[in-house]
Amino acid sequence: MDIGAYHALSAGYDRLNSETDYLSWADFISECFKKFSEIEVKEVLDLGCGTGAMTFPLRELQYDMIGLDISYEMLSVARETADEKGIDDILWLCQDMRDFELYGTVQGAVCVLDGINHLWGVRDLEKCLKLLHNYIEPGGVFVFDVNTPKKFATFYGDNDYILEDEDVMCCWQNSYDRRRGICTFYLTVFEKNSDGTWRRTDTEQRERCYTRKKLENALESAGFEVCGFFGGFDLREADDSDMRWYIAAKRK
Ligand SMILES: C[S@@+](CC[C@H](N)C(=O)[O-])C[C@H]1O[C@@H](n2cnc3c(N)ncnc32)[C@H](O)[C@@H]1O
Repeated sequence: MDIGAYHALSAGYDRLNSETDYLSWADFISECFKKFSEIEVKEVLDLGCGTGAMTFPLRELQYDMIGLDISYEMLSVARETADEKGIDDILWLCQDMRDFELYGTVQGAVCVLDGINHLWGVRDLEKCLKLLHNYIEPGGVFVFDVNTPKKFATFYGDNDYILEDEDVMCCWQNSYDRRRGICTFYLTVFEKNSDGTWRRTDTEQRERCYTRKKLENALESAGFEVCGFFGGFDLREADDSDMRWYIAAKRK
């Protein structure tokens, strides 16, 4: 697991990720909870919550939130945002989604913005799903998304990108191993210091490409029933041309 990338990205992450529509995404998640859960969803675990981009909107929808992330730096940004907003009822946990412990069970869980692709080791997805099965009450629902095989083959591939916003820039070079289904991202982040100088950090991160079949099999083996495999927030069925799939799975 490469967590260094998020240590380097944490300060500028929200600015570089400002175009993602988290409010519509939160509504979609809430709709999935209402449609597929057999129990009332009150407590929700946000796996790989990062700076809380989805934790806060779900809290606004009246869910009791737990945000869990392996990166202390990402969680620090989340905590600062919570302080600024006067929010003190979110439990932030610095833990690994392959090996976490909660104080009790939840009725819903999410993992948003390709957190599941970050589980690039062969057994990591199984470990994470097994733990989710332990902590989600029977009938509760896990909603997550993945970058699709099409996105790995076309958008990521061996392409280079530059992301920039005020006082932060990220140069992003990809190397996609098609045989292993693993994409390595080489990231160089420049952040402007308060004295006008720039700080450079070089880091690496990996994501695994999961096929639909692989995800469905892993969910089934961990004790989940796939309720929906969607290509968008409008709940349309996923297909091979999608860049992101949204999956809702019920804990049996
Ligand atoms: C693409 S970011 C998404 C963050 C947040 N969900 C969002 O939508 O902005 C992926 C997050 O997963 C976290 N992460 C990666 N591997 C992890 C692991 N093994 N356990 C917990 N968190 C992990 C990273 O630290 C990062 O914050």
